[in-house]
Amino acid sequence: MTRRPGLSARLKLTLSYAGFLLVAGAVLLAVVWMYLLRYAPGVITTPEGTLARSVRLRFAPAVALALAFLLLFGLFGGWILAGRMLAPLTRIADAARMTANGSLSHRIRLQGRRDEFRELADVFDTMLDQLESHVSEQQRFAANASHELRTPLAISQTLLDVARSDPARDQGELIERLHTVNTRAIDLTEALLLLSRSNRRTFTREPVDLSLIAEEATETLLPLAEKRQITLSVTGEKAQTVGSAALLLRMVTNLVQNAIVHNLPTGGTVTVHTQTHHDASVLQVENTGQPIPTALLPTLTEPFQRGTQRTRTDEHAGVGLGLAIVNTIVQVHDGTLDLSPRPAGGLLVTIRLPVAPHGPSPNGIG
Ligand SMILES: Nc1ncnc2c1ncn2[C@@H]1O[C@H](COP(=O)(O)OP(=O)(O)OP(=O)(O)O)[C@@H](O)[C@H]1O
Ligand SMILES: [Mg+2]
Repeated sequence: MTRRPGLSARLKLTLSYAGFLLVAGAVLLAVVWMYLLRYAPGVITTPEGTLARSVRLRFAPAVALALAFLLLFGLFGGWILAGRMLAPLTRIADAARMTANGSLSHRIRLQGRRDEFRELADVFDTMLDQLESHVSEQQRFAANASHELRTPLAISQTLLDVARSDPARDQGELIERLHTVNTRAIDLTEALLLLSRSNRRTFTREPVDLSLIAEEATETLLPLAEKRQITLSVTGEKAQTVGSAALLLRMVTNLVQNAIVHNLPTGGTVTVHTQTHHDASVLQVENTGQPIPTALLPTLTEPFQRGTQRTRTDEHAGVGLGLAIVNTIVQVHDGTLDLSPRPAGGLLVTIRLPVAPHGPSPNGIG
């Protein structure tokens, strides 16, 4: 964007300062002039009898001289003062220019007492901190996503190469393996799409009962739990909130699926519990399993973070997006997500969502 060059702020401040000084000086001199007009005679007679020009007459050139001095002094002083005042602004502008050119690592770090400029510089630095971490997070995400998407493609390529070099091989097995790999790639792409879609806050909000959502999710996952001989139970009461039923269902499904697949090999338990506190609707998913190191917990909600069981080879070898999706859904619903390891092993996940606002709702609850 180009703008026509105008007077610089420094020049404007200088002119204002000098102008103000000149006006103030002129007013002062005018008052003195009025005083002289009133009390000093135009001519006076000296004791020797000669006429002398009075103070009144000698005043005019002195006024002109004083005003000229004030003008020069105002311009000079104003220029120096404005320069000092505006120096922090120059630093802030330099930093903004560097940011615009793509350097996010530069900081202003303005020293000195807290004033408006210091506040602006500090806010700018904080904004740069956030921007830099956001950009590096995005870069990490893109790199991880590309890596994960390349894996199934590379496996397919290898399978096809083998088939081409050995046409006598069993085609049925090849098709089966290609199918599995392809399904994995589709799941991954869908998870990525879901993650980016749930990040937008554009969904329509409706009253949702978490206990119904919990029942729906567990019903779908019951076959998986039975296959792994895991006891799955839903307890608790109605827990009303407001949000997207589809996203909240995905959230609970991801949690229950995690609770099943990251459980003991057989004979584990999973409990889904819903309840209403005075200010929040609470959903808890608790499962038995291996002990989880506390240091690992904060990383689990990051995209592509898988826990310790990297060697799982079953059909639920995940990509590590499940909890990242849960986290995003919780955030866009203004809720909180808390992971805590159970002393005997396994995990307790607690989600708190705002309770539905009071008053009649479309389906009579809330
Ligand atoms: N309920 C749980 N019990 C024990 N560990 C869990 C539980 N939920 C998640 N984890 C650990 O957190 C990691 C990340 O979970 P997340 O759901 O994000 O990924 P994933 O289950 O490995 O893959 P995906 O969900 O994308 O298929 C898991 O690999 C697992 O180690
Ligand atoms: Mg998962």
